[in-house]
Amino acid sequence: MNLETTYLGLKLKHPIIPGAGPLTGDVSKARQLEDHGAPCVIMSSLFEEQIVREQRAAFAAIDEAADSFAEALSYLPEPEGYRLGPDDYLARITYLKAALDIPVIASVNGISPDGWREYPKLIAAAGADALEVNLYHLAADRYESSAEVEERLLESVRAAREGIDIPIAVKLPPFFTSLPHFVSRLEKVGVQAVVLFNRFYQPDIDIEELRTEPTLHLSSPAELNLRLRWLAILHGRTPLELSLSGGIHAATDVIKGLMAGATTVQTVSGLLLHGPGHLAVLLRDLADWMHEHDYTHLDQLRGCMSHQNAPDPEAIERSNYAQILNSWTA
Ligand SMILES: Cc1cc2nc3c(=O)[nH]c(=O)nc-3n(C[C@H](O)[C@H](O)[C@H](O)COP(=O)(O)O)c2cc1C
Repeated sequence: MNLETTYLGLKLKHPIIPGAGPLTGDVSKARQLEDHGAPCVIMSSLFEEQIVREQRAAFAAIDEAADSFAEALSYLPEPEGYRLGPDDYLARITYLKAALDIPVIASVNGISPDGWREYPKLIAAAGADALEVNLYHLAADRYESSAEVEERLLESVRAAREGIDIPIAVKLPPFFTSLPHFVSRLEKVGVQAVVLFNRFYQPDIDIEELRTEPTLHLSSPAELNLRLRWLAILHGRTPLELSLSGGIHAATDVIKGLMAGATTVQTVSGLLLHGPGHLAVLLRDLADWMHEHDYTHLDQLRGCMSHQNAPDPEAIERSNYAQILNSWTA
């Protein structure tokens, strides 16, 4: 059974990658993932806010007017246990590279071009094999048009791309008016892959305390379908590699992702729920299923249910919508 996959110029043993999250930046947990068969790891992100915080803190030490932005600093989230500042992040790349035999993909999470001119270069110099740029942005400004938002996001990617020669993947939110068009613009910026999709952590409301509560729920396989649809639409229509992030909990989810057109799939919640050993379970179940169904190579699966190749492509688009609604029985 040949599960080998090339992603971001890296030769991987198989396509199931531990995605950016708490397990992959910690050296001992990353080692466990490697022992359970991880083909590479994607580190949790260095956030632009952390860089800004560090730069502001350095500035504050020398500027008497520091008080004027001390309040603003307090709005920035405190780094959680595994969230590292820029210097520690770079050091962590070096540790991971020394401790692991598999490739290490670093991750940056930014929203503004200025945030990403410097750190990708340092990340590449620290030895990361590739970089995932996470465009986590909520377009909530009524004076900024969607075209302006997209231009700013592209500018961030260009800024990250400048001066580094390691491959780049861009992790996207699902909220684009025309996702295929934005992806076609990314092709021209020199990235190798897109990751579909970021998950947005939705705030809840505490109705007794009148507080907005940030909530972080782990995913469920129900989140897979949104990814499957967009993978299916993009497969064969972009030269970029496609990586699925969101809703991979079982080998059947992996198979669906590959059939829709994913080059690789990433999993985070599944590993947090079941532990690093779940990776080996996914891999074993994928291989067993392929064996039972006489597949010997991933290319026989990949994209076979994409929009271009599926026997019923209209089911991927809107045309079945009314039919589906009408099929509901109470
Ligand atoms: C606790 C936690 C921390 C995460 N941290 C990051 C991060 O630093 N950078 C990032 O791009 N995604 C981060 N993610 C998002 C995951 O990489 C992934 O896109 C998302 O959880 C959907 O995949 P899943 O369904 O396999 O969990 C995080 C997710 C969780 C649950």
